[in-house]
Amino acid sequence: DKGNHRHFMAKEIFEQPEVIGHTLSEYVNPLDDTIRNTDLPVDLASVPRITIVACGTAYYAGLVAKYWFERYARVSVEVDIASEFRYRDAALTEGGLAIFISQSGETADTLAALQYCRAQGQKILSVVNVTESSIARASDAILPTFAGPEIGVASTKAFTCQLTTLAVLAIRTGIARGAVDKTDEARLVRTLMEIPRHVAEALASDEHIQTLSADLAKARDVLYLGRGHNYPIALEGALKLKEISYIHAEGYAAGELKHGPIALIDEEVPVVVISPVDELFDKTISNMQEVIARGGRVVLISDKAGIARAGDGLWAEIEVPPVDPLIAPIVNAIPVQLLAYHTAVSKGTDVDQPRNLAKSVTVE
Ligand code: F6R
Repeated sequence: DKGNHRHFMAKEIFEQPEVIGHTLSEYVNPLDDTIRNTDLPVDLASVPRITIVACGTAYYAGLVAKYWFERYARVSVEVDIASEFRYRDAALTEGGLAIFISQSGETADTLAALQYCRAQGQKILSVVNVTESSIARASDAILPTFAGPEIGVASTKAFTCQLTTLAVLAIRTGIARGAVDKTDEARLVRTLMEIPRHVAEALASDEHIQTLSADLAKARDVLYLGRGHNYPIALEGALKLKEISYIHAEGYAAGELKHGPIALIDEEVPVVVISPVDELFDKTISNMQEVIARGGRVVLISDKAGIARAGDGLWAEIEVPPVDPLIAPIVNAIPVQLLAYHTAVSKGTDVDQPRNLAKSVTVE
């Protein structure tokens, strides 16, 4: 049932405040601002290293999680694509924690990577949306995402629920390792509790994004740029656009621009820059100015202050609420989802069933 939406994808995008709220209520206690102690297969205080493996959008959730684990828990994290990881004889530390992220829980490469990790003495924790799945069954413990069934082939609400779950796990790891004290925990939990409200605010740009997408639909190539935790959101934005609108898109770390991709920039190439005001804002904006100077048409996703500071020459802007850096990647995922959705609708492609794609990839 699509409710009053044209596509499952739209319904699932707009469900996000609610399902993120469900996910949060499973993992945090709002009465005393603490993180709940769900069962885990490892002692987070002593885990030497974390390996995260997934495919596609779930892999991008893992990339964001790396920033969180490093920042809040000071633990070293490696993230890899399952189809690469499973064949490359990864050297793993005995007793390490391996985390698998999968909406369906049936992705063949992710499952094979899990079996490799088990054989290498890793503890297996999976973040899955389908709790009765092959990956869930093969794990020592699971952290379910409570996104509900995701029908649209392009993952949206599963992604933000994966992020929410991983943010909680990173903070919990920080607590176990003494990097997050009681005061920090309370502050971070209160910040997490604000995600649904801020996601709802980001969704309010829907009509504006729809208008802008009519132009984006004419592009042949689109670049997405971000730094830090917004770099994986740039990758996710590009994946979402290419898979449902069939427009070629690439995500880049903004600092990599001058190492090659800037050669692509001309008046024909829209560049989506994801950069709310944070400690990397000035760096990203200076990359953005280089794009504008070469005639690139910039769509800036930022908060009010960031848009005001960005200077002249923007082609379009999309406002997101100013939020704590902890939850920024979750909030910033919303405009890139809407941009892909409306661009695809504008082109008339089959949004919920894009060509050549399957919802769960059970063959390698
Ligand atoms: C993109 C998308 C895919 C999946 C990937 C992994 O929108 O949906 O990239 O994220 O196929 O699938 P799961 O999470 O089921 O393992």
